[in-house]
Amino acid sequence: MSTQGEVRKITTHTLLEMKRRGEPISILTAYDFSMARIIDAAGIDVILVGDSASNVMAGHETTLPITLDQMIYHASSVVRAVKRSLVVVDLPFGSYQGNSKEALNSAIRVMKETGAHAVKLEGGREISEAIQRILSAGVPVMGHLGLTPQSIYKFGTYVVRAKEEAEANRLREDAAILEELGCFSLVLEKIPANLAKDVSSSLRIPTIGIGAGGGTDGQVLVLHDMLGINKEFNPRFLRRYLNLFDEIKNATEQYINDVKSHNFPNEQEQY
Ligand code: KIV
Repeated sequence: MSTQGEVRKITTHTLLEMKRRGEPISILTAYDFSMARIIDAAGIDVILVGDSASNVMAGHETTLPITLDQMIYHASSVVRAVKRSLVVVDLPFGSYQGNSKEALNSAIRVMKETGAHAVKLEGGREISEAIQRILSAGVPVMGHLGLTPQSIYKFGTYVVRAKEEAEANRLREDAAILEELGCFSLVLEKIPANLAKDVSSSLRIPTIGIGAGGGTDGQVLVLHDMLGINKEFNPRFLRRYLNLFDEIKNATEQYINDVKSHNFPNEQEQY
């Protein structure tokens, strides 16, 4: 809060200052108004409207099917809920890799139609023209290296990336390129902790890890995973804070019983 009681909003500059101060940055995903309202009220620094919506909201096996229109729907729902957090939106697969003009048009649609504050793109030097063009329009860009799920069919599996020297060196170079281009932050997904720590200390911009150990400048998790809404996804890096699958299932079973046994509604629950 500011001295006038107004909420002090998180900006890309706040994140740079947090890195300078050594204050870890907290990020969670959200895809809808209700969840975004809760995590914003809890004080999360950044909300990522991730293309993981494709998995957790739509039930697809990968992030590839989600469309730009669908991302815009999710992002605009999140933005309506948020008072303080910075909202970053993933540009989905196919909306920026074709050419830099297409990338710019996608970023502009996200910014205009959702009210979000920044976009995230997966990749390094191969998308530098797209990043440059988006940045030149004044749109902040978050990078994403390591295990980039939009390239899952190139990788073939979701195992840890950059364990070999050549891939680790390429990742170090790509991280430097993204900083040089002007990205305000960089997600490092599922890479060895030592590499993530090295990259983080070599950059001025904050790194955000997922499965990248404790040496990054912040952490991100998929909300549905940390709340235990999914039971099937159990990677080593995931810490579950609730077991909502079972809690919601139990509540639903109780409700069904109450309805079937004429226990609900009772005298006080009617007009
Ligand atoms: O889509 C997403 O949720 C992400 C995070 C896992 C970083 O990109």
